[in-house]
Amino acid sequence: EKRIGILTSGGDCAGLNAVIRAAVCRADGLGWTVIGIKEGTSGLLSRPLRYEALTPDKMTTAVMRQGGTILGTTNKGDPFAFPMADGTLKDRSVEIIGGYHELGLDALIGVGGDGSHQILRRLAQQGGFNYVGIPKTIDNDVGLTEVSVGFDTAVAVATEALDRLQPTAASHARVMVLEVMGRDAGHIALAAGIAGGADVILIPEIPFSIDSVADKIREVRKTGRNFALVVVSEAVKTIDGTKVHKDYHGGEKRFGGIGDYVAFKIADTTGAETRVTVLGHVQRGSMPSWRDRLIASAFGAHAVDLIAEGKFDRLVAWSDRRVIDVPLQDAIAEYQDIKHDDALLKTARALGICLGD
Ligand code: F6P
Repeated sequence: EKRIGILTSGGDCAGLNAVIRAAVCRADGLGWTVIGIKEGTSGLLSRPLRYEALTPDKMTTAVMRQGGTILGTTNKGDPFAFPMADGTLKDRSVEIIGGYHELGLDALIGVGGDGSHQILRRLAQQGGFNYVGIPKTIDNDVGLTEVSVGFDTAVAVATEALDRLQPTAASHARVMVLEVMGRDAGHIALAAGIAGGADVILIPEIPFSIDSVADKIREVRKTGRNFALVVVSEAVKTIDGTKVHKDYHGGEKRFGGIGDYVAFKIADTTGAETRVTVLGHVQRGSMPSWRDRLIASAFGAHAVDLIAEGKFDRLVAWSDRRVIDVPLQDAIAEYQDIKHDDALLKTARALGICLGD
């Protein structure tokens, strides 16, 4: 009989509770106990430790349907350089490792993005404990998995936003700019932009020129269409490499963000009337889509199976229509942003979508 811990780490997303439920269900089938650690590694850092036993009776299908994470999460503080109240950074890894051993765990499942897995892997190596990772992030940038938990729901939310913006754009003859999340990768923007019928999609992997965007808007107008939809990923850069949302804050003209800047430039260069919607955390907070629930369920159950087989330092992944697992260090090394030969970029170009280059 084993005692395993599970924690969620980094930004939340839809589907985390479905992962937790599946892990508990599978562990229960093996007669094991699952301990839910509160707020990522913070639960192991606090004294007293913060955790709860996740009994199967608590893991109803209602929990699976719920957004967010019942365990809480945090993205504050690398335990190897933890920001202290006095402004200094302290290595607190020993305290976290101590927390793991105090709980008498046989293994830990971490549900996180690439940054979290990197930290948890290092902790596991240093502390001599068994670790299995599950990829989650709306950004979908974890390597060696086709999809991470939370991405599908985030894309659905962004696509629905475009569906809702289109009629109001057409009614007012406006260019609607939708700013979506994606800290370093443009997967949400590209997927939602294609599915939601965008005319322009700007992603961080392709530096954009405002002239190219303006040309596209003029081209749309020439066809007699009075509106346009522009999707902007929060981390896009201009063609000369400027990170607009940072560099323009506090400059001559203050912009609310990159979407605001793009909208201003479109209006300035084409004379079009523009409006901006910043989708923000709305993309993270809803009931998980069926696909996120499905993938989350497969991931949670498979992580427990790996522990049963004594296979550690692995990342559960989705490939070729099924759940698999890959070496964790390889997944961390293969950061997955949009490569220049990405098939969806080709699709976007085939549809006449301007990518800003
Ligand atoms: O990594 C997920 C993500 O939602 C990014 O898309 C976004 O840049 C960031 O997290 C927002 O983080 P926070 O919740 O700390 O505002």
